[in-house]
Amino acid sequence: MSLISRVARENAKGHITGYIIAGICLIIIAATTAFSAWVIRILVDDVFVEQKLTTAYYISATVFVVYLIKGAASYIQDVQLNKIANNIVAKYQNRIFGHLLKLGLGYYHKTRSAYLVGQINQNITGVRNLLNMLITVFLRDLLSVIALCAVMIYRDPFLAAMSLLIAPPVIILVARYKRKVKRIARQGVDLNSRVASTMQEATQGIQIVKAFTMEAQLAEKVRVLAATAEERANKMARITARTSPLMETLGGMAVAGVVAYSSYRVIILGGSPGDMMSFLTAMLLAYEPAKRLARLNVNLERSLVDARMIYEILDTPLHQRDRPGAKPFKLGAGEVRFENVSFSYAAEDEEQGSVIQNLSFTAEAGKTTALVGPSGGGKSTIIALLQRFHDLDSGSILIDGQDIKEIKIASLRHHIAYVSQQPLLFEGSIADNLRYARPDATTDDLVKAAKLAQAHDFILATPQGYESAVGENGVNLSGGQRQRLSIARAILRNAPILLLDEATSALDNESEALVQAALESIMKDRTTIVIAHRLSTIANADAIMVVENGKVVDQGTHDELSKRVSGIYARYNSLQSVNGTDASINSKRTRSKKGAVLEKKRLPV
Ligand SMILES: Nc1ncnc2c1ncn2[C@@H]1O[C@H](COP(=O)(O)OP(=O)(O)OP(=O)(O)O)[C@@H](O)[C@H]1O
Ligand SMILES: [Mg+2]
Repeated sequence: MSLISRVARENAKGHITGYIIAGICLIIIAATTAFSAWVIRILVDDVFVEQKLTTAYYISATVFVVYLIKGAASYIQDVQLNKIANNIVAKYQNRIFGHLLKLGLGYYHKTRSAYLVGQINQNITGVRNLLNMLITVFLRDLLSVIALCAVMIYRDPFLAAMSLLIAPPVIILVARYKRKVKRIARQGVDLNSRVASTMQEATQGIQIVKAFTMEAQLAEKVRVLAATAEERANKMARITARTSPLMETLGGMAVAGVVAYSSYRVIILGGSPGDMMSFLTAMLLAYEPAKRLARLNVNLERSLVDARMIYEILDTPLHQRDRPGAKPFKLGAGEVRFENVSFSYAAEDEEQGSVIQNLSFTAEAGKTTALVGPSGGGKSTIIALLQRFHDLDSGSILIDGQDIKEIKIASLRHHIAYVSQQPLLFEGSIADNLRYARPDATTDDLVKAAKLAQAHDFILATPQGYESAVGENGVNLSGGQRQRLSIARAILRNAPILLLDEATSALDNESEALVQAALESIMKDRTTIVIAHRLSTIANADAIMVVENGKVVDQGTHDELSKRVSGIYARYNSLQSVNGTDASINSKRTRSKKGAVLEKKRLPV
């Protein structure tokens, strides 16, 4: 069982003392159980038959002390083993989170995060008791059974041999259930994770749920999943319990045989009644731990399913990691160059067109380069590739002549400030959120950045100012406010390369103009790549790249591009000018998901 040894290897370290203490306690428990059976003979033969009352007092006192010790041992091993199990949970939580943070974005595009979280929670709870189960069963139950068998053999070897004959069929039959358990346990985890993820997504998107009156549909979805999970759990219970009738039948046969034979031996052959009582007690006491031993396989399989799923996550290879010998990024002027870059989201084996095809362009150092073009053209992807969120299919991206593949990832990203298309905020205060960009920022720095991003005033208007907590996903802030916070966060980053993906799309004209002015002041000496749909944002750019279907189809300054009668930029330009609402087509309206409807209005290509 390589999986068990792996769990043991990775978790037992540091707990050896705890395990030894618990082990000693378990041995004591097993010994006290055996003692109970042992002492019966003295009770029957010396006290009941020979009528020695003083012996009875001794036995009574000894039994009391022994059970006192057993109680203490039980307490200590329970506390020890739980302490270790809790620590194992904490360790897995840290390890899994650490690994999740390192996994590339590609992994998250394939896995729903809500599902993942639900699954991990269940798995960690399941694997928690794996080692303890083994230790308890082996040290307490196995030792109890062995000690009790020793008592039985000592009292009557022939009878002992006969009654142990039931063990082999039990072991063989129980092993058969193992595979079934494995399959059902996995289905159970899967179903429960889906219930959890549906709940999480529904509560996160509660506005959309209500707006589209999705309640009944979602409730039905959960009802079906929960019912299936219930049915699976019942099935699991049936399989686990199926070992019981089998063992009770075989056990009953053994006990019945022993009762008949021992009575025969005492009455006809004149054996010691104490011996037989002691034998019978040992046998009855061995019954429960023996049952647990027989079931170990089945229970173990459930925990192993959880362990296996945990390791599937922990063993997911990290594609996005530093190359051996990766160097820290050496900042020069800040020139960004894409050379024949091709990229597709799907894995190589799936046939899907490249999102980026043979793309080449240069964003000059210290200048502003705008990317414009129809929705889905690949603009956000370009910005993602520059941050090495994904690896390229071919070609290379160079910053100051250094291939980003060869640079330490952390060092690359330290030099980049990014305002994403969806302004994401994290649990915590406004100040916490800003400080993610620069942990050592002073309050003055925060205020300065917030002022530049036109966020200072509304921050002060919140109940606790910079210390106000942002709700989940910042729900108690407006879309534009969130956007301004994410701009402030990028300003605070103070990085030489600035990437703005529709950074001002959710702002009204007035704030947009103000934020734009602020951004222009910080864009001055930085290499900036800006994605925008509004002419006002891009007109001042030093260079404009028109991106369509993952290719640069045209490039130039605003004036140059405007002069071209045909071409996408001309259409784009004329649409916004004709409407005379240069900057307002998309204003106010927060972007809908992928903005499909709005997009058509803006850009009839
Ligand atoms: N995670 C992903 N997995 C697979 N395909 C993706 C993923 N993200 C984007 N795409 C696809 O890549 C293409 C380019 O998307 P991208 O987000 O770069 O477009 P965009 O130019 O930024 O569009 P918009 O103006 O709407 O933001 C689209 O066809 C999109 O469907
Ligand atoms: Mg985009």
